[in-house]
Amino acid sequence: MADTKTATLTFGDKTLSLPILKPTIGPDVVDIRKLYAEGDVFTYDPGFTSTAACDSAITYIDGDLGELLYRGYPIEQLANQSTHLEVCYLLLYGELPTADQLDDFTTRVRRHTMVHEQMHNFFRGFRRDSHPMATMVGVVGAMSAFYHDSLDINDPWQREVAAIRMVAKLPTIAAMAYKYSIGQPFVYPKNALSYAGNFLHMCFAVPCEDYVVQPALERAMDRIMMLHADHEQNASTSTVRLAGSSGANPFACIAAGIACLWGPAHGGANQACLEMLKEIGTVDRIPEFIAKAKDKTSGFRLMGFGHRVYKNFDPRAKVMKESADEVLDLLGVHNNPLLQVAKELERIALEDEYFISKKLYPNVDFYSGIILEAMGFPTAMFTPIFAISRTVGWISQWKEMIGDPTQRIGRPRQLYVGPTRRDYTDLAKR
Ligand code: ACO
Repeated sequence: MADTKTATLTFGDKTLSLPILKPTIGPDVVDIRKLYAEGDVFTYDPGFTSTAACDSAITYIDGDLGELLYRGYPIEQLANQSTHLEVCYLLLYGELPTADQLDDFTTRVRRHTMVHEQMHNFFRGFRRDSHPMATMVGVVGAMSAFYHDSLDINDPWQREVAAIRMVAKLPTIAAMAYKYSIGQPFVYPKNALSYAGNFLHMCFAVPCEDYVVQPALERAMDRIMMLHADHEQNASTSTVRLAGSSGANPFACIAAGIACLWGPAHGGANQACLEMLKEIGTVDRIPEFIAKAKDKTSGFRLMGFGHRVYKNFDPRAKVMKESADEVLDLLGVHNNPLLQVAKELERIALEDEYFISKKLYPNVDFYSGIILEAMGFPTAMFTPIFAISRTVGWISQWKEMIGDPTQRIGRPRQLYVGPTRRDYTDLAKR
């Protein structure tokens, strides 16, 4: 990133020259780091719509083109030709692995799939009806109480072990949260299975009968994981980076990311979207919900629609729509009413002036819930599956940040609008 030109900012009697940084692709970035020191002003950007908070070489999104690249590779190619573990390697280390490297990485992940036996007691402390995301925030945060040998963020080897542990153990923890919520015994990981297959096994196997992973469902789950693996500086990733910028341990940082992901405007949208499709129920009720989404006073939004960055289409939604058709076909679910409602809702919304003018398109969550429900997952498990998938993105971004020698604690400033200085009044005089 070379500094090739500058921007000039004039205000009052000051003129500042600000360097313009050139990314490998994407818009130029005005470097305002000296703005406060030299100009005595802050910038104001709630929601960070125009602010780059870091440099990153991991993921690139072009919202206007509807393009998503992991380390330069288009998401569609990865979703069709790669596997989640290979994508994990790519995100963590920057290049596609050779066969030997992938083999070694897969072995390392497999060796870490079990959680410390004593952690089982944590689960038992939660109410059975806890949302699995609540359990995951707690249990992942508590990993820092167990894995003391991978807490030192200044030791590259410990960072590496923490990364592998999290990629390996998150499916186990999510599956345990699910099993606990339905009152079934925990199922230990089976390392002969693939990453996605093992997760399905831990969720759906029971001790009293054999469970055979269906290859097409395993492939669909693996695709869901790849599609969600990273998404540059989104809310949960920024949360992980901000938490990590203070030197917090990696398990605590990922727990913070899980907490942020839970919100319905972010990872919780897949659950909210399926609930909305169920509430709509039949195609004839769609106009009523479209009208409600357009009415600002209703407070209602079409869940699974809209994205902060994609203003053309979400490339992940296209792949997900194909997967929804394949999975339902495979499971022999024809004329699934939710899929019918979803497709018709998409068609109507895409022809509607409100959605066209605001550039609102289906996002990745619009179809993922339909697939997951068809596989047998309850809605409460949708966001935990997103969390499992995004873990590698969070940890790759965290590792990138910690390895950057220029990294500093994240500390945004504010536009203060509270009272100016005033004197304390005694209680009796108020
Ligand atoms: N339904 C109806 N109107 C919408 C929707 C929607 N889903 N999304 C945005 N709008 C409207 C807003 O009311 C606003 O209108 P206005 O300009 O007249 O005030 C305009 O579109 C822009 O919306 P913002 O909220 O400013 O856009 P922002 O970029 O902040 O929000 C977000 C993006 C949070 C994704 C939003 O579109 C949303 O709430 N969507 C529904 C939730 C959802 O699906 N989230 C998943 C995101 S993808 C992910 O996390 C994997």
